[in-house]
Amino acid sequence: MLGCNNSDHSEDSVQLISEFALIPHVYQIEDSTGTINMGSMLEIVWNNNPNETLKNQIFNQWHEIQSNQRQGQSTKLEIIIDIDLDLPHQEAYRLEIHQEGIIIRALSQEGVYRAWQTLRQILYLSRDEKIGCGTILDFPKYDYRGAMLDVARHFFSVDEVKRYLDQLAWYKINYFHMHLSDDQGWRIHINSWPLLTQIGGTSQVDGGTAGYYTQNQYQDIVNYAAERFITVVPEIDMPGHTNAALASYAELNCDNTKRELYYGREVGFSTLCVEKEITYQFAEDVIREISEITPGPYFHIGGDETHATPEDDYILFINRVMPLVGEYGKTVIGWDEINLGELPPDAIVQYWASAQNAINGIKKGAKVLMSPSSYAYLDMKYDSLTPIGYNWAGYIDTQKAYSWTPETLVEGIKKENIIGIEAPLWGETITNSQELEFLAFPRLLGYAEIGWSEKEDRRTWEEYKLDLAIHGLLLEELGINFYRDPKVNWLTESD
Ligand code: ACM
Repeated sequence: MLGCNNSDHSEDSVQLISEFALIPHVYQIEDSTGTINMGSMLEIVWNNNPNETLKNQIFNQWHEIQSNQRQGQSTKLEIIIDIDLDLPHQEAYRLEIHQEGIIIRALSQEGVYRAWQTLRQILYLSRDEKIGCGTILDFPKYDYRGAMLDVARHFFSVDEVKRYLDQLAWYKINYFHMHLSDDQGWRIHINSWPLLTQIGGTSQVDGGTAGYYTQNQYQDIVNYAAERFITVVPEIDMPGHTNAALASYAELNCDNTKRELYYGREVGFSTLCVEKEITYQFAEDVIREISEITPGPYFHIGGDETHATPEDDYILFINRVMPLVGEYGKTVIGWDEINLGELPPDAIVQYWASAQNAINGIKKGAKVLMSPSSYAYLDMKYDSLTPIGYNWAGYIDTQKAYSWTPETLVEGIKKENIIGIEAPLWGETITNSQELEFLAFPRLLGYAEIGWSEKEDRRTWEEYKLDLAIHGLLLEELGINFYRDPKVNWLTESD
């Protein structure tokens, strides 16, 4: 076993690894004596399974941070992937910082990637090249730690989406839910229904240049996410929130009349024609084509706010559509209203509005994805002065966003019922990356911690906000347009 020697023990200014402001907070961290110089070239050694993409990513990102330090002795990073390691989770890792080098031990490449995010934060946040030695053991509390982006109300380009994925990766978010269709726009090309994008892809809230992803572009996003060990969850919202489809194809309407494209912000006025067979052909074609280019396990059918669909029709519709998702090899996710249907045994109900809906889902055997709108909706304003966003679920400042616990929020939704948490960002009021980031950051860091960090003793706002203040430096460095919540004493470069 490598050891840190004591030669630098007298340097009391050395930053100990237990002092780093890691978000999400890690499970266990122990300092040991000695120091390591991180400010140099990186030499990566794999014990097995060298993954060139992952290796290049780590190598390049190390050198982005240590760009001034290319000369001198190398820092050695040994990566050991071994399924027999004594680690409790697929994403778990042990990060050992020794005098002679750094070792990451993990069961999978995913675990290595999560460890790299921890190390990357340490590199970014270190005051000096030299830091104290020590060991971190870490693994997630919840398997699903997601962010949703609504690209339907306003279209976001492939590059804008990639920018967000890069930001999510830092905080160990591992699912990216894309809300790909709504009343205002249809954003993914479907070969068997080409007018969906030719017509339905041209509109968005308030007009302006909208757009859609070709299937190649969607796959580019999926692959980019996968390189960051983030799984894309596509959503096609049905049977409501479908005006863009109804404006593209007359036959999806009960009266065989195309709807006008919609540029407003109302919800709950559109519905597919549930009694027509063509509606199910449409649903199946869309589910098939998207599932074929989606490697992840989930397909989200929406199912929310179907005020224009009588309840019996709604139940009929989802009872026909949910099994189609299974036929194309995916697990169905839907907003909490889908509890009304006959849920497939592996279904996931996304709790956003009604706890009772989620509990009903649990009674039918479903798991719950926690997105309670009054805590986890990134499109809610921070306070009355926030220039963008909504407040129908209340104001959510950074403290409120952080100060809840999925398994104690609702009586009847227990830890074993919960697959994880997701922070949705609806797009009515955001038109570009700057606005997206203003609503997502810094709240997203809190959601990342709620989803990842097990230790409840850490989960106090008073402690967390000190670490968050330090992450302001990182967010600034990354060029993220974050909201400087006045409850946090943000550090600046001169502090
Ligand atoms: C939703 O916010 N309509 C799921």
